[in-house]
Amino acid sequence: MRPALLLSLVGVVTALPTIDNVSRASISKADGTKFNIDGVTKYYAGTNSYWIGFLTNDNDVDTIMSHLQTAGHKILRVWGFNDVKQTPGSGTVYFQYFSGSTATINTGANGLQRLDAVVKSAEKNGIKLIINFVNNWTDFGGMAAYFSACGVNSNAQWYQAAKCQAMYQNYVKAVVSRYRTSTAVFAWELANEPRCNGCQTSVLTNWIKKTSDYIRSLDSDHMITTGDEGFGLAGDGSYPYQFGEGIDWAANLALPNISFGTFHFYPSGWGVTNSFGSGWITAHAKVCQQLKKPCLFEEYGVTNAADHCPVESDWQKSSVAAKDSGMAGDLFWQLGDTIKSTGQQTHNDGHTIYYGSSDWKCLVDNHVKQIG
Ligand SMILES: *[C@@H]1O[C@H](CO)[C@@H](O)[C@H](O)[C@H]1NC(C)=O
Ligand SMILES: *[C@@H]1O[C@H](CO)[C@@H](O)[C@H](O)[C@H]1NC(C)=O
Ligand SMILES: *[C@@H]1O[C@H](CO)[C@@H](O)[C@H](O)[C@H]1NC(C)=O
Repeated sequence: MRPALLLSLVGVVTALPTIDNVSRASISKADGTKFNIDGVTKYYAGTNSYWIGFLTNDNDVDTIMSHLQTAGHKILRVWGFNDVKQTPGSGTVYFQYFSGSTATINTGANGLQRLDAVVKSAEKNGIKLIINFVNNWTDFGGMAAYFSACGVNSNAQWYQAAKCQAMYQNYVKAVVSRYRTSTAVFAWELANEPRCNGCQTSVLTNWIKKTSDYIRSLDSDHMITTGDEGFGLAGDGSYPYQFGEGIDWAANLALPNISFGTFHFYPSGWGVTNSFGSGWITAHAKVCQQLKKPCLFEEYGVTNAADHCPVESDWQKSSVAAKDSGMAGDLFWQLGDTIKSTGQQTHNDGHTIYYGSSDWKCLVDNHVKQIG
């Protein structure tokens, strides 16, 4: 066979499924500085569940998704990665396994089929998912799980090493291909809290450009975002506004295939006060307004349980108040619920807001009412 013909055949075989025009109309999108979900443009609320794709019982996933639907939440951010260097027991979920110099994607019953259940349940319950592809931190593997397989020893090297990026893009493609036509995908997200401490900001900007362009080449319909904490922008010069974590927030948001901006807020971890939050929100909203892209306040939390309701509801109010000047939605960290089949509560990391609790009434029921 002539090489040219071979190439075109390869192209046909690897092409991803496309979406029909009816489904395309119900794909979530940016509408100016707001989000349009199922045809409705307004401010949206939601939450985070890193663990929902690691549950092993479909009914448990459905119960939790139905609680979100009942509550009026629309957006749920989940971990689309679970990277290991040692395969766990057969009942334990993992998505990718590194051994020697190779990466193997687990598409089995304790692999990506668990994420399939999350996507299917989200479709059924009208929930839209942000799915991310790798962690900066070592929870559930992270970039560090790739290190020995791709021959690097830091996140800074990982962003720039061809072999690491080929493995990462291969994983991205495996996940995007599975849900390419799903109306339950809100956005693809490059990483959880990517940082490159002490690097030139061009390292991350180049990586975000390369990766978002790659995802766009696979999927012309769904939104794409970075998943970073929002560091590196004009402000009072305190740590969160500095560029030392390798993020130039406005430069990254300006990249053509990045659809909206993300930022997080953990005052105790960052050495600032709770009341710093309202200025942090408006500083990002201002950049979003300038760049005409939506801003998502994607994670926020305080550890002191007594502060959950009063402090976090204040941030929610500041965010909603900026809904016509850049803010498009907020997702608190993190969702808590009872796993029906075991009767156990999901992970309490000190930030967890349990379904049906008084904190839930404050931060979900009242917030959803306030948004309207
Ligand atoms: C789908 O939409 C595209 C772009 O708007 C249009 O060109 C095409 O004719 C549509 N296809 C059908 C089957 O309606
Ligand atoms: C996440 O990134 C920052 C900056 O590069 C780094 O300091 C930190 O150690 C990273 N986390 C892990 C687990 O590598
Ligand atoms: C977005 O990504 C696509 C696919 O890779 C690429 O062709 C396009 O040039 C990118 N957009 C811009 C404006 O750079």
